[in-house]
Amino acid sequence: MSEARLVVLSNRLPIVLTTDSKKKWKIGPGSGGLVTALGPVLRDRGGIWIGWLGAGLKELPEDTTREALLQEGASETGYALKPVDLTREEVRDYYFGFSNEILWPLFHDLPSLCNFDPSFWPAYVSANRRFAEAVLDNTCEEDFVWVHDYQLILVAAELKRLGAKRRTGFFLHIPFPPLDVFIRLPWRFQVLDALLRYDLVGFQTERDRRNFIDCVRSLTSGVRVVGHGHVCKLLTPERELRVGSFPISIDFQEFAGLAKRPGVIGQTKLIRDNLPNRKLLFGVDRLDYTKGIPNRLKAFVNALERYPELRRRITLIQVVVPSRESISEYKALKQDIHRLVGEINGRYTQVGWTPIIYICGSLSRPELVSYYQACEIALITPLKDGMNLVAKEYCASRVKYDGVLILSEFAGAASSLQGGALLVNPYDVEGVADAIHRAANMDSDEKRRRMKLMRHSVRKNDIFRWVSSFLKAGVTDDLAQFPFMEFFVPRRKQEADSSFFHQSPLQH
Ligand code: UDP
Ligand code: G6P
Repeated sequence: MSEARLVVLSNRLPIVLTTDSKKKWKIGPGSGGLVTALGPVLRDRGGIWIGWLGAGLKELPEDTTREALLQEGASETGYALKPVDLTREEVRDYYFGFSNEILWPLFHDLPSLCNFDPSFWPAYVSANRRFAEAVLDNTCEEDFVWVHDYQLILVAAELKRLGAKRRTGFFLHIPFPPLDVFIRLPWRFQVLDALLRYDLVGFQTERDRRNFIDCVRSLTSGVRVVGHGHVCKLLTPERELRVGSFPISIDFQEFAGLAKRPGVIGQTKLIRDNLPNRKLLFGVDRLDYTKGIPNRLKAFVNALERYPELRRRITLIQVVVPSRESISEYKALKQDIHRLVGEINGRYTQVGWTPIIYICGSLSRPELVSYYQACEIALITPLKDGMNLVAKEYCASRVKYDGVLILSEFAGAASSLQGGALLVNPYDVEGVADAIHRAANMDSDEKRRRMKLMRHSVRKNDIFRWVSSFLKAGVTDDLAQFPFMEFFVPRRKQEADSSFFHQSPLQH
């Protein structure tokens, strides 16, 4: 019997392909928290990451170059990278269509933005089958397969259809909607049934888990929920699974460390020196309608109108990263934001003061941390968000315990940061404007007290803890079968602690 490995499945592979000045392809590792946290486990235990190489790339390198690049990527990351190929039609109907024109808006409580085109469903099924086939080809029965996000809900069901037995976990990075929203999905039974095929299903917050359980109770029959706590059991007529809430986080030390680097400090100073004698507000988002950017801009104007003393004393730096650009809602949003920024700057700019500095493009991580440090207020106001990592990154980067976080109460991050953040309803333009005014006038003792609470929470509940708590819940009955778990439990401690894993989480 071969040793069980950890296999990660996500829509995109965690690598970046770019071309240099001579148009030669280069491969580099991706930079998200998930890559940082899972990388060492996969490397140490010979794990695999399976995903799609495309989207965002106008063209892909030809097959032989691609193979060589993936080999190079694997030797750099230390684990195997297995690409899943999708046809042009699958990309259109599975990625842009079902994933991002149906599940994305619906799960963010925006059903009016859904395009329930029936042709998207078969493409979603066939793309998920393709990912399942890649699992079948590259893994064995002992492996633990961890599937990520809404693009891949059907993988466990497709594995079963292929006759493959695997231990599987699924984590939904976006919110799970309430019953009255979910029920509009024409494929609601298939999607719920597919989620019940995993051994562990994880959500970002208690709210999401509750919504899921409400849907299961109302739309399926014969399912019993057993236990309380952050992981409970669902007993279906055919099988048993666990359902838990596992709020995702960031590599706290990485951000805190970057904030102390001379290069980053120098860049922070440059930003400050160019924008003297004013408070800086910072917003950074993918250009996505869930992020509430137009509402935020309107709240900023409202603050300038109702608190005229803020004029010349405050500047909003808003970074937007273009995303999913071939979808019409995203195109329309881009125009809307450009128009609003133009109108606001046209109306309020005075010599020596521009109210909004608008950056359209993406920042590297060190650049981002320089902005986090330069701006004493972060304005993070999504209409709904699974977690919002930017909120946590901002706190980790404020190593001097100053800075104020204005945060939407509809971001998953609100549940862990509520003690320190100024929570706002992003639809309440005056409420957000009042919070901007309050943040701009907050004394340093209050800032420190609030930031301390938030930094403590993010430091304690970092990405490593998130990975370990998900995997522990996923392999809970047979720790010994999964050698990669040694990564989370030091070898000498394992014996003493093993009773923990043999206990049901319901007993904790
Ligand atoms: N990010 C980045 N460069 C940018 C803007 C954002 O690297 O110019 C990163 C940011 O650090 C964060 C992620 O993109 O880790 C955004 O995650 P979040 O959960 O806030 O939102 P999402 O885009 O996943 O909906
Ligand atoms: C969110 C989703 C991810 C997705 C990311 C970027 O964070 O939860 O699954 O990868 O947005 O979106 P994209 O469509 O460009 O992959």
